[in-house]
Amino acid sequence: MSEQIKPQPGILEIELYKSGASKIEGVTDVVKLSSNENPYGAGEAARDAYMRAGHDLHRYPNTDHASLRGAIGDQYGLNPEQIICGVGSDEILTLLAQAYAGPGDEVIYTEHGFSMYPIFANMVGATPVKVPERDRVVDVDAILNACTDRTRLVYLANPANPTGTMIGGNAVARLAAGLPEQCLLVLDGAYAEYVEGYDGGVRLVDGRSNVVMTRTFSKIYGLGGLRIGWGYGPQEIIDVLNRLRQPFNLSNTQLAVAEAAVRDQAHVEKSRDNNTRLRAWMAEALAEHGVPSDTSCANFILARFASAEEAEGADAYLRSQGLLVRQTGGYGLPQCLRITVGDESSCRRVAHAIGQFKGGAR
Ligand SMILES: Cc1ncc(COP(=O)(O)O)c(C=O)c1O
Repeated sequence: MSEQIKPQPGILEIELYKSGASKIEGVTDVVKLSSNENPYGAGEAARDAYMRAGHDLHRYPNTDHASLRGAIGDQYGLNPEQIICGVGSDEILTLLAQAYAGPGDEVIYTEHGFSMYPIFANMVGATPVKVPERDRVVDVDAILNACTDRTRLVYLANPANPTGTMIGGNAVARLAAGLPEQCLLVLDGAYAEYVEGYDGGVRLVDGRSNVVMTRTFSKIYGLGGLRIGWGYGPQEIIDVLNRLRQPFNLSNTQLAVAEAAVRDQAHVEKSRDNNTRLRAWMAEALAEHGVPSDTSCANFILARFASAEEAEGADAYLRSQGLLVRQTGGYGLPQCLRITVGDESSCRRVAHAIGQFKGGAR
């Protein structure tokens, strides 16, 4: 390879994203609790729409996503013109970096923040800046103190992954108000629907010009495999992102299934209610076995063991029982395991296995 042929700055800094494991060698009955997926799958309306979409495979999709944006607008009470749809919320988060950051700029994310954030910064040659949290909770003052005249973006998931913790509306508003003029706050609401009564940041977007919210169909809607997400922001910002977006980024199938899903709120409510109930049950059961966790606002809990060694041992034991959870060493939390809240039987199996492990089973 010629030495003159070089990738753009930042690209070689990217550490490839590691997704949650889905297989255990030699085990067929595996329960996957490593990717925060909806244990009930997609709702019936979405599955029906998927089957119907097979008739249209030869047709190019429309490029404006008007029908899906209209359905999202109806459901969430938003102006469809300020909505952009993408290949997972990851695409919207990527477009924001492409549009607003580049070499010489800084992109802030927090200590245990979602591991894609530094990747988005590196993709565009910007410098990722990691800011400390306070006991696994985002620290607004630390973020504000880390801002410089080169900070262009702050990525903040609320609720956060993998901690599951959340900061309140006033704290987020204070952050948005305190950012330097050239800096955009990206409020990542991948888990927002799991929080009863939370708008994911809509009011903040409406009241300011420096906030964009992202959402996904991958979590509570149970469509992680189909890759659909969306963003909501000030008109000028959405117009900028639309210039960068590939016109045919979403297929007919993705558009039709997402629209059916957003109109089926019964599935969302059922998923949220079960999650709330089983999350509380599992957190308490683990705490009784001597494994505490912070109060989670999402569809997983971050189980905290006494040491990294103990967490590793617990992970190995869970695997031996066919239970796959997520190691969080890469997030600076080697003493923890992130466990998706599954259906009732999965939660019981996890709690039982952790009890056995703590009781001496290896
Ligand atoms: C905090 C957070 N943001 C964004 C995403 C990306 O989701 P998707 O691209 O599937 O919409 C995830 C997925 O795990 C996440 O945890």
